[in-house]
Amino acid sequence: MAATEARIAQGLNGNGLVAYTEGLTKRYAPAVTALAEVSFAVRPGEFVAVLGPSGAGKTTLFRCLTGLTRPDRGTVNVAGRDIWQSPRELRLARRELALIFQQFNLIRRLSALENVLVGRLAQVPAWRVILRRFTRADRQLALGCLDTVGLLDRAGTRADELSGGQQQRVAIARALAQHAKVILADEPVASLDPESSATVLESLRSAVTAGVAVVASLHQVHLARAYADRIVALRDGRIVEDAPASQLDTRTIEQIYERNGERNES
Ligand SMILES: Nc1ncnc2c1ncn2[C@@H]1O[C@H](COP(=O)(O)OP(=O)(O)OP(=O)(O)O)[C@@H](O)[C@H]1O
Ligand SMILES: [Mg+2]
Repeated sequence: MAATEARIAQGLNGNGLVAYTEGLTKRYAPAVTALAEVSFAVRPGEFVAVLGPSGAGKTTLFRCLTGLTRPDRGTVNVAGRDIWQSPRELRLARRELALIFQQFNLIRRLSALENVLVGRLAQVPAWRVILRRFTRADRQLALGCLDTVGLLDRAGTRADELSGGQQQRVAIARALAQHAKVILADEPVASLDPESSATVLESLRSAVTAGVAVVASLHQVHLARAYADRIVALRDGRIVEDAPASQLDTRTIEQIYERNGERNES
């Protein structure tokens, strides 16, 4: 664990943050403000849940954090790199990021183990990948990551023969194998039943225990409260709440989801 922590400590910002945004603003023509002045920070080993009604800007925030969407204004810093400073900074920052989406995370015809080994691609010479000649050390690492998410016994199973929840856990194992500093998960449990959702969120917590930061958008408030350290709520592109999960009461959560754009200031 000490080695993991030392590795994660490298490449952090001077302020010890693994990722942050400042004044992030993104508009879509003709009149949608998807994000408005969003400033938000993630520390190593922290699980942040992003909540908010449909259209609040959650996916846009994730896309801006990964460099898939260029903001109109503001900065995005990942692992100490200002990702819009140059293509090189963006490329290097992306090595530190792992993305997990609602579905389509794995290469279907490859086994669970091979999908986890894909996480090693940035560190492995191309010929080894082409010939699938990963080193023993890489295979051991990948098996260890599958063990962390409780899927060691499924190492040889093809991805398309795994359940949706198991596939998400393989994607988390791949992020661990990649030595990602931050996992960005946009609705990772949206298409799963409650039991599978719980195992996926437990796997994300295992990643957090290993020192990785997790930012996950969730639609189920009770899951955010059960698994996240901190809850950031978006509404109409603005952060309306940023607090430890344990401090968020029912009334505050109701306000986040109030409809018709009405702000209740009481
Ligand atoms: N490519 C795009 N072009 C135009 N408008 C967009 C685009 N992407 C997002 N938007 C708009 O930006 C706003 C925020 O969308 P976003 O997808 O970030 O919301 P969300 O919080 O992820 O919602 P959901 O919970 O439904 O996934 C919405 O009003 C959406 O219609
Ligand atoms: Mg979305």
